[in-house]
Amino acid sequence: MSQHVPDNALASARAFAPATVANLGPGFDILGMAVTGIGDTVTAHLCDKPGTSVVKITGDGGKLPLDATRNTAAIAAECVRQQIRPDVGIELEIEKGLPLASGLGSSAASAAAGAVATNALLGNPLSQLELLSACLEAEATVSGRHADNVGPALLGGIVLVTGITPDCLFPLPIPDGLYFALVTPDVAVPTAQARAVLPKEVPFSKMVSQTKAVAQLMYALYSGNLDLLVSAMAEDGIIEPARQYLIPYFALARDTALAYGAKACIISGAGPTLCIVAPTAELAEKSGAAVQALYLAHGIGAIYRVAQVATRGAYAET
Ligand code: HSE
Repeated sequence: MSQHVPDNALASARAFAPATVANLGPGFDILGMAVTGIGDTVTAHLCDKPGTSVVKITGDGGKLPLDATRNTAAIAAECVRQQIRPDVGIELEIEKGLPLASGLGSSAASAAAGAVATNALLGNPLSQLELLSACLEAEATVSGRHADNVGPALLGGIVLVTGITPDCLFPLPIPDGLYFALVTPDVAVPTAQARAVLPKEVPFSKMVSQTKAVAQLMYALYSGNLDLLVSAMAEDGIIEPARQYLIPYFALARDTALAYGAKACIISGAGPTLCIVAPTAELAEKSGAAVQALYLAHGIGAIYRVAQVATRGAYAET
């Protein structure tokens, strides 16, 4: 262990960060939600080697870089280390629970878990919001400097994100009775590619209808009106039309989900995961299974998970 161990440091700390669903339909880059059940886990250890290094990654099929300058958990951890104790060395072990390039905020979850584990390792001097800049630094290397995944990954719940500083994160009400089936077909859609297909300009009329949908969505959250919420989520007239071609059988999958009792089916983040919204766990389960079966019938592997909004963001396990 390093000679420069902080007085209140631990020998190791382990943190979990949840998956996140960004955009929620029309709220491109400004709305995100943490979801239950899946996420990434990072364990940070003090060591003698200077800087931050990654010693082990599991669950990624060998795809993620051990290079600490290209790994989001390590970039976020390094920023936190620099802020708190630049004189100590840190080693990370990363357990990927999230599929890569899946639209579930995989890079953000690793960043948030890396930041929270490092903060806990070094005595927890930083608040959750003070970890935002470290997580954004990490996000910027892989998918752009937007906080609609790292915001909810850190804070939990549903978050309005109006910028990249802590004062731009606004937790929103979580209505009762919101269930999701998250269906991930086995196709990779890198965020950079999904952003490249977006229009550079939109007609005035689309600007008006998108603004209306976001406003309706906000009102629905505050009033707990689920019918209004799902109709607003389904009204993205700009991003989804441009991206749906990156996701095989998107229209058929949505029709299938609705036929099995779901109320909406949107692209989660940059895709390809579909976020199916249902009023009960049973209907989420049925529609998720039906959409999975659709993909399997077309020769495309797919998994689905039933989830709810995760009220808790990234946390250190004690
Ligand atoms: N808001 C982002 C997008 C989320 O849709 O591109 C993915 O990182």
